[in-house]
Amino acid sequence: MAGWLQDRVALVTGAADGLGRAVVTRFLREGVTGVVAVDRDADGLAALKQTAPDRVVGVVGDVRAFSTHAHAVEQACAHFGGLDILVPNAGVFDFRRPLHGYTAQALEATMDELMSINLRGYLFAVLAARKSLVARRGNIVMTASVASFHAGGGGILYTMAKHAIVGMVRQLALEMSPEVRVNGVGPGGTLTRLRGTEALGHGARSIGVDAALFNARIAAATPLAFAQTPDDHTGLYVLLASNKNSRAVTGQIYLSDGGIGARSI
Ligand SMILES: NC(=O)c1ccc[n+]([C@@H]2O[C@H](COP(=O)([O-])OP(=O)(O)OC[C@H]3O[C@@H](n4cnc5c(N)ncnc54)[C@H](O)[C@@H]3O)[C@@H](O)[C@H]2O)c1
Repeated sequence: MAGWLQDRVALVTGAADGLGRAVVTRFLREGVTGVVAVDRDADGLAALKQTAPDRVVGVVGDVRAFSTHAHAVEQACAHFGGLDILVPNAGVFDFRRPLHGYTAQALEATMDELMSINLRGYLFAVLAARKSLVARRGNIVMTASVASFHAGGGGILYTMAKHAIVGMVRQLALEMSPEVRVNGVGPGGTLTRLRGTEALGHGARSIGVDAALFNARIAAATPLAFAQTPDDHTGLYVLLASNKNSRAVTGQIYLSDGGIGARSI
């Protein structure tokens, strides 16, 4: 049976690991012609490419640079003839640091780094891909978060950045209609190797360092009582990326959070 994304071409940022990698793997199963996988982790991209050498093109680069995205879109056109689906996803975490945990200097440096990866990286991806997506009536599925709607999932900077993605999705959905649909998926606590910022010296620190503790904490805080894995979210990306199956959906973020967003206390 044909997959939901048969003959489509996708570009995913932060594709070497975690959610991005799971999305690429699922898109391949759903029949995409090819995926351009963007990440700063060259080894992770090489490992991903090995899973489908003819259908994955890796672009090593930093999402803070527009040139990374321009090159990735060029690669999609050169290797696969165009672009239909964009998934801005690369991000870093603040390990729930509150405002009073920063000096002014640390706040400036961390804010610049986190916002330029988690927000400018998304906007640059859209800016680079816009013409190609318009030409093929494509769509965008951004990785948002339960932190896009609720406090406490991150600290002040991460929560602000994820809330801003709500505005980004809604505004771009209007600006890019009627040619391109723009939506998001908001995962809850998901076991990955999500890292912190260099500015705080957390470039190598990861939320997944103690998997058992992470899973137990998330399960205890989640109505459905389990910590999610990246694979738990990929179906929503497929749904929103499929023009056939979500033709009327734009400007929306679907939470995939085990019910955290549904509870009041
Ligand atoms: N893990 C969670 O609990 C969770 C929950 C909700 C949302 N998210 C979001 O999901 C997205 C993916 O995170 P993840 O949890 O899969 O983490 P991850 O670390 O497994 O994946 C993120 C990828 O982005 C890449 N990356 C980071 N900064 C980059 C940069 N400047 N340039 C290029 N690549 C860069 C990393 O190398 C990594 O491969 C992020 O936007 C994150 O905020 C994560």
